[in-house]
Amino acid sequence: MTDLTGPTSRSFRAVAPSNIALVKYWGKRDEATQWPANDSLSMTLSESQTITTARRTSDGFDSFSMSGHTLHSREDADHKIFHHLNRVRESLNVSGRLEIISENTFPTGCGIASSASGFAALTLASAAALTGESAWDALATRGATRTKLADWARMGSGSAGRSLLGGFSRWNTGEHANAQTIRQEFTQDHWDLADVIVVLSSQEKHTSSSEAHRAAWGSPLFAARLAGVPERIKIVTQAIRERELPLLGREIEADAMEMHAVAMTGSPAINYFSEDTIRFTAWVRKQRGAGNFPAWFTIDAGPNVHLICRQSDASDIATTIRKEWKNAKLIMDRVGSGPTIEISTQFKSACHELTGGLS
Ligand code: PMV
Repeated sequence: MTDLTGPTSRSFRAVAPSNIALVKYWGKRDEATQWPANDSLSMTLSESQTITTARRTSDGFDSFSMSGHTLHSREDADHKIFHHLNRVRESLNVSGRLEIISENTFPTGCGIASSASGFAALTLASAAALTGESAWDALATRGATRTKLADWARMGSGSAGRSLLGGFSRWNTGEHANAQTIRQEFTQDHWDLADVIVVLSSQEKHTSSSEAHRAAWGSPLFAARLAGVPERIKIVTQAIRERELPLLGREIEADAMEMHAVAMTGSPAINYFSEDTIRFTAWVRKQRGAGNFPAWFTIDAGPNVHLICRQSDASDIATTIRKEWKNAKLIMDRVGSGPTIEISTQFKSACHELTGGLS
């Protein structure tokens, strides 16, 4: 019998991208099942990634290392990472403990959310290591279809489910919690859009998205937002289908502002914007109005700004930003093809190899 445990067991390396929501998931109908209040639609990125390597261990416990810091299920059994591993094991109906190393290709602590790529990579690497399979077809025969993997990933962090798919993907709420679906709407080849991520502040966010999803229900604006999302999803889908950037841009800016308006008027009220967020978004609108700046913004649960533009315009847009915003750091990202999984000959941190990130 093959020994799947111990230092000689095979390692599985998952590389999963982050994604940027064009229509935001904001609020949960039910926390236990991670049932979102509204449908959301996102663009999967290519440069901002999490690289996670997993292998079976005979240690009797799970461990998870990131940036030189190790968590151990012996001491931290209640950590969400270990709950997630239990969930993947139960879903696959397999046993076995894992040793895991994870790194982001973008600097952590720079204010860019890593939970989407993080839980997508963790789900994929752990499913591969637990089943011993690294091919998508073989994983599917073991019960880990891409749809299932997306479903497990979203249990760790809602937005992570969309990162299992490349291009543009949509998370539908469905009629009940078990009827949720995450599907690809367009492949990455459909439209070469860029995301120039403008890091205005490298501080970690002060309020977790879990807390903010809960606070949304206290906002008098939330019902109005939810009523408008189906129409917005239709328009955004049409804008992507027809590659209509000004139409897409108008809708994503409105959606981001609406999400933040709900947060700011929630209970408790949560403000993710910094003074620079306000100044920068006003500057973007002014630049656009003056011509030669075809970029539109969206903002997740933090002070930093994502500028969506055509890939062919991204470098000029970055140059214009650098001239005026000397302290801003930029991450040049674009639409991507989704995660990969492979057998790895090494079990070690990829940290030193990383070239992406801030510039
Ligand atoms: O996945 P969570 O629970 O961290 O929520 C993410 C919420 C937003 O990033 C603000 C929007 C989205 O749809 O990704």
